[in-house]
Amino acid sequence: MPKESQGLTLDGQGKPLWLSLELTYRCPLKCSWCSNPLNFEDYTERELSTEEWKATLREARALGTLQLGFTGGEPLLRDDLEELVAYADGLGLYTNLITSGIGLTEARLIALKEAGLKQVQLSLQALRSSLTDELVGAKAHTRKLAAARLIKAHGFPMVMNMPVFKQNIDQIDAMCAFAAEIGVEYIEFANIQYYNWAMVNRDELMPTLEQVREAEATIQRWRDKLGDSMTLYFVIPDYYEGRPKACMNGWGAISLTIAPDGVAMPCLEARVIPGLEFVSVRDKPLSWIWHESPLFRKYRGVDWLPEPCRSCSEKEKDFGGCRCQAFLLTGDAGNTDPACSLSPHHHVVQQAVASTVQALRFRKPLIRRTKSAVSTAYMEE
Ligand code: SF4
Ligand code: FES
Repeated sequence: MPKESQGLTLDGQGKPLWLSLELTYRCPLKCSWCSNPLNFEDYTERELSTEEWKATLREARALGTLQLGFTGGEPLLRDDLEELVAYADGLGLYTNLITSGIGLTEARLIALKEAGLKQVQLSLQALRSSLTDELVGAKAHTRKLAAARLIKAHGFPMVMNMPVFKQNIDQIDAMCAFAAEIGVEYIEFANIQYYNWAMVNRDELMPTLEQVREAEATIQRWRDKLGDSMTLYFVIPDYYEGRPKACMNGWGAISLTIAPDGVAMPCLEARVIPGLEFVSVRDKPLSWIWHESPLFRKYRGVDWLPEPCRSCSEKEKDFGGCRCQAFLLTGDAGNTDPACSLSPHHHVVQQAVASTVQALRFRKPLIRRTKSAVSTAYMEE
C-alpha cells in the first residue's frame, strides 16, 4: 500500500499533480535573485521543440497531472506559447502563465485567453519605477503595471507575485494598495529562496529579522482590512524559522519540473546537486522518469532520512527540508536541511543571518543575471 502523508503518496506511485514547464531560460530581465542556472545561456540551443513539449504534456496528463505552469525565463519569448496553451487546455490541464509581464501585449493576452489560459501570475518588484527598473536591470516598471491592468481588464484570475528581499521589503504596503485598487485575487509575498543567482547575492538580498517582522505586521493589517476579497500569502523565510520548508511537498511527491532541454526534475533547482543522473524526456518515457529513475527515487519519502530527522516527529511534515539547500549549505544533499535548528549544521544558517546584518554596513553592488557575470559569480563562490 502506498504510504500516505498529508494526502501525498510518497512511494513514487503518486501523481505529479503540479507540472512546471520551463519553456526557456531566455529572459529580457537581469534579476539578481533569478533561480535559473548561472550558465542559463548554455541551454538556448537545446530547448524542446513545440512537438516535444506537446508529447511531454500528453505523457504528464497520462500520469495524472492536473495543474500546469508555463514558466521560464520568460515564457512569452516562445512564439508557440499560445499553441501549447491550447494543446494543454485540450488535454484537460488547468493552465497558468507565470510571467514578468514583459512582452504581454493586449493582442497576445486575447490570443492566450482564446487558447484557454486560465490564470496569470505576474511578478512585480516595487511600486516605484526607479526601484523596479534598477532591480530588474531594464526599463520594465511601466510595462509591468500596464500588464497587471490588462490581465484584470481581460478577466483573468491573477496572482501578483512579489519576490521579497532587503531592497524592496518596504514596498509591501504600496503593493497591497495597488493590488486592492485593480482587484487582484491573490498576492504572494515570496521571500526569495537562496539558490543560483540569489545565492551569489545572498548577503545583500536577505532581509533582517526585524524587517521580516515589520513586513508581517503590514500584511496582517491589510488582511484585516480586505477580509475575503484578497488572499495574501506570506511565509517567513526558513533561515529565521528554525524549521525548514517542506520543499515541493517532498522530493518526487507531487511536483514535476521540465527544464528547457527536457530534463525532468523534482524541483527547479535540482541541477545544483552534483552526482545525480539527470534524464531528458527526449531519451526516456516520462512515466519511467517519474516512477523509476534513480533521480526521483533518491530522496523520495522519508525512509532515506538521516538523523536527527529519522527519529523526529516532524519528518512527515517537512521531509527533512530542502535537498538543494542542504547541498548548497553543507555540501551533502542527503543531510538534514540546516535551516532546522536540530541540524548539526544549523550554525551555517546562523552565520548567513549574521552576514546579512553585517552587509547592511558594507553594501556591495548586486551581481546581475547576465552572461558576463557568470565567470565572476563562479569565481566568487
Ligand atoms: Fe524536520 Fe528533520 Fe528538523 Fe525534524 S530534525 S524538524 S524532520 S528537518
Ligand atoms: Fe530542490 Fe528544495 S529546491 S529540493
